[in-house]
Amino acid sequence: MTQPGYDAMADLYAETFPDPYQFPIERHAAAAFAEEAAGRPGRTLDVGCGTGHVAADLAARGLDVLGIDPSAGMLTHARRLHPEFPFVDGDASLASVPDGPIAAILARFSLIHAEPAEVDASIRLWADRVVPGTPVLVAFQASDDAGPPLAFDHAVAPAWRWHPDEFARALADAGFDEAWRIVYRDTNYRFPMAQVLAHRR
Ligand SMILES: C[S@@+](CC[C@H](N)C(=O)[O-])C[C@H]1O[C@@H](n2cnc3c(N)ncnc32)[C@H](O)[C@@H]1O
Repeated sequence: MTQPGYDAMADLYAETFPDPYQFPIERHAAAAFAEEAAGRPGRTLDVGCGTGHVAADLAARGLDVLGIDPSAGMLTHARRLHPEFPFVDGDASLASVPDGPIAAILARFSLIHAEPAEVDASIRLWADRVVPGTPVLVAFQASDDAGPPLAFDHAVAPAWRWHPDEFARALADAGFDEAWRIVYRDTNYRFPMAQVLAHRR
């Protein structure tokens, strides 16, 4: 899989978003996730890690992190900015993630770029790779309308936004039970945003 949109925008993205979090609540969500992942055996995966800035924050919180992204351009920045930990070329299927224990999985604003059926399939593959209790945290542009995900005109690549209930349903169908969610809004951004934390059943 490739991500030509992100390859083309990678330099601008790295320059525009030097900080991993746009809103304080996002930092708190990452901290809560990291607290759960800490002490669990294995690597914490940052799926769709982009320039690696969130992976770096998780590593600073003591996690053994592996970043995964399908965009060569984004990975170039990730490896330049954070040479101290590994990144692999790959996607949400985790096909390129070496065998071994997985402590936790984070996917921030990356699954939005996978077609909804691919999201369902990927989360099922996650379920096959992790042990009961494993936390996953997913962040995404949300919809207030119940029902299936809605395609939207993301500036970089095809994207879908999900009603939080629908994402929780996808997680539950794959074997992950929701523990908590946040929905947050900003007057300068057109969509609500959501994060769902769930555990492998
Ligand atoms: C909006 S950026 C978010 C980057 C990072 N997670 C963050 O929070 O800053 C979306 C990232 O998802 C990646 N991506 C796109 N399709 C993907 C897929 N099917 N699986 C995993 N990552 C994907 C893109 O290459 C891009 O780096």
